[in-house]
Amino acid sequence: MLNLFKKKTPISEVFPIDFVDIHSHLLPGIDDGAKTIEDSISLISKMEEYGIRKFVTTPHVLGSVWPNSSDTILDKLDLVQEELEKRNMSHIQIDAAAEYMLDEQFCELLKKRDLLTIREDSLLVEMSYFNAPVNLFEILFDIQLAGYNPILAHPERYNFYHKKFDVYEKLKNAGCRFQLNILSLTGYYGDHVKKAAEKLIELNMIDFVGTDTHHHKHLEAMNNLGTKKILKQLQPLLKNNQLFV
Ligand SMILES: [Fe+2]
Repeated sequence: MLNLFKKKTPISEVFPIDFVDIHSHLLPGIDDGAKTIEDSISLISKMEEYGIRKFVTTPHVLGSVWPNSSDTILDKLDLVQEELEKRNMSHIQIDAAAEYMLDEQFCELLKKRDLLTIREDSLLVEMSYFNAPVNLFEILFDIQLAGYNPILAHPERYNFYHKKFDVYEKLKNAGCRFQLNILSLTGYYGDHVKKAAEKLIELNMIDFVGTDTHHHKHLEAMNNLGTKKILKQLQPLLKNNQLFV
């Protein structure tokens, strides 16, 4: 009897059919995600088994650590699309944007409008896990002034905000939308992150979700998403991603 109540929904039944994953690192050899084209295909295949067929993948653009440009990203996207076609996997829809670190280099790219967006105008941005940029609100303002809509990646992972929920509110009021990493709900990034994720959902502050897949470990951990509690939190949010179909 007890087992019956504990039964998890298989991961293949969690995602709606037209779910678009708007945060992942699936392009080969340009950040800390997929290393080779084989790697890319293997991650995409596994995600297809899970029921995810639409991606706007988002390589890091991060100073000298991952100095990607729109060109390096789009070249790798071509490569992956060609490989998918070769393997009769062209039913997979994959596009590319980027996950931009809010640093000086980003401000330069913003001036030049040389940025890759999710669909028309959504821009996925992240901050350091140690502290926010001093001019964060100014940057958010400039982003919108330039005609883009910022989406902050994994707000629940910025530990320095966990005891300052009013800043989350300020960010939302400043026009920033929030993208939750679905693995945060499983405790994958620790208990503090899980609690922050739950609280942000409770407060209706999460706009979209993403897998932030870098490697197979992330995909294995996704098998823990099918509990009743997590599904209840997650399902309405998964539907929000339809905006990007
Ligand atoms: Fe990411």
